[in-house]
Amino acid sequence: MTAFSVQPLQGMSDIRAPEVHRWQRLERIGARILEDYGCSEIRTPLLERTELFARGIGDATDVVQKEMYRFEDRGGRDVSMRPEGTAGVIRAVAAAGQDLQDARLYYLGPMFRCERPQAGRRRQFHQLGAELLGEPNPAADAECIALQLHILAGWGVQGARLRLNTRGVPEDRAAVTDALRALLDPVRDRLCDDCRRRMDANVLRVLDCKQPGCRAEVDRLPPMTEFMSAPSRDYLADVRDLLAMLNIEADLDSRLVRGLDYYAHTVWEISHESLGAQDALCGGGRYRFELGKRVLEGVGFALGLERVLMVLEAGGLEDDAHAPAVYIATQDPCAFRENLVLAQTLRRKGVACVMDVREGRPFRKQLRAADRAGAAWSVIRGRHEMDQGTFLLKNMADGGQQELEMPELIERLTGPIFPP
Ligand code: HAM
Repeated sequence: MTAFSVQPLQGMSDIRAPEVHRWQRLERIGARILEDYGCSEIRTPLLERTELFARGIGDATDVVQKEMYRFEDRGGRDVSMRPEGTAGVIRAVAAAGQDLQDARLYYLGPMFRCERPQAGRRRQFHQLGAELLGEPNPAADAECIALQLHILAGWGVQGARLRLNTRGVPEDRAAVTDALRALLDPVRDRLCDDCRRRMDANVLRVLDCKQPGCRAEVDRLPPMTEFMSAPSRDYLADVRDLLAMLNIEADLDSRLVRGLDYYAHTVWEISHESLGAQDALCGGGRYRFELGKRVLEGVGFALGLERVLMVLEAGGLEDDAHAPAVYIATQDPCAFRENLVLAQTLRRKGVACVMDVREGRPFRKQLRAADRAGAAWSVIRGRHEMDQGTFLLKNMADGGQQELEMPELIERLTGPIFPP
């Protein structure tokens, strides 16, 4: 029998204190800002029918072709772990009918892509995303971009760069892909193996290939907007005007196409140079889903939380203090049960406290644990305190001690002199 490994799978991690406090901070601030923009949370299943992703994200995309955790469930159904959040949200909107028409929804949770792990690329990663349902409207796109920049600012991310482009109206798609194929065909031999394959199935992706040979060819191409109709170009111009009015700087990048097929009209990415090769913090755009006879449209984005934390850590993120205020130490076994009651009393009064609930632990070890926990105070009770009905309050910073009765103890721990 091979040894049992307690490590998580490659590209996946446990998230625990103190790191988890940074996650909770992002979640708290993000949710508040999203709610200020009229969004409400939606929680969709982690597992969906593969068909949803194949149709929504696109059969020919790398995500669907190579990256999904896909398997047959016990009933023989073809299912996949969600690689992103948009498809599931759109399915939920379709399932809810009129209830969620023009809804503004946000989600927060794990996504799964079986990619080759590297810095900033995980197999289980987390997104905070929002989807604003509704027909194409440049004002909604501009507001959506403003919303996500607002969240990044709320987290303290500085120096992020917004790149903007358009995929045009769906009717322009054939003209654009035909033009692109015609332009790239003569230089096909100079493209990488992946791009030669993409020429047939997904030619737009050649535009954002990172291989130097492909880049050199793509740099020679005219912007794809040249092959688009006036409605596509005017829409992009409107979005840019609105962003300028909101004081948002956006670089036009005609190579930006995004790797998911559902986009139509505006697409964007926010990147940060401290991230290296995987520099996208966030991606978004306007989309159009055809689910059976229904067409659902909207605009949205997803922020990659691992990458946001990498940026914040590179900038010297300070952790919030999460130490308990009080450690309750039992000096004599006769105080053990009373101390359990004291812990509950203090917590009811809003004082964060911990104690070792293993009866008979050596007192010395308890004091060491109080130090390790970073508690500001310890409350010590032994035989003397039990006989007197008192509490010994010890300041962990300077070692000063005071014997107090219950009302004074509560006042000291909840009053203004108690450090926040
Ligand atoms: P995406 O560009 O595929 O878009 O992912 C959004 C963000 O998720 C990326 O910018 C990145 O920060 C993070 N991310 C993606 N893959 C990984 C990975 N393997 N490891 C770590 N982080 C990763 C979407 O998912 C779209 N659903 C966004 C959207 C919403 N468009 C419209 N609505």
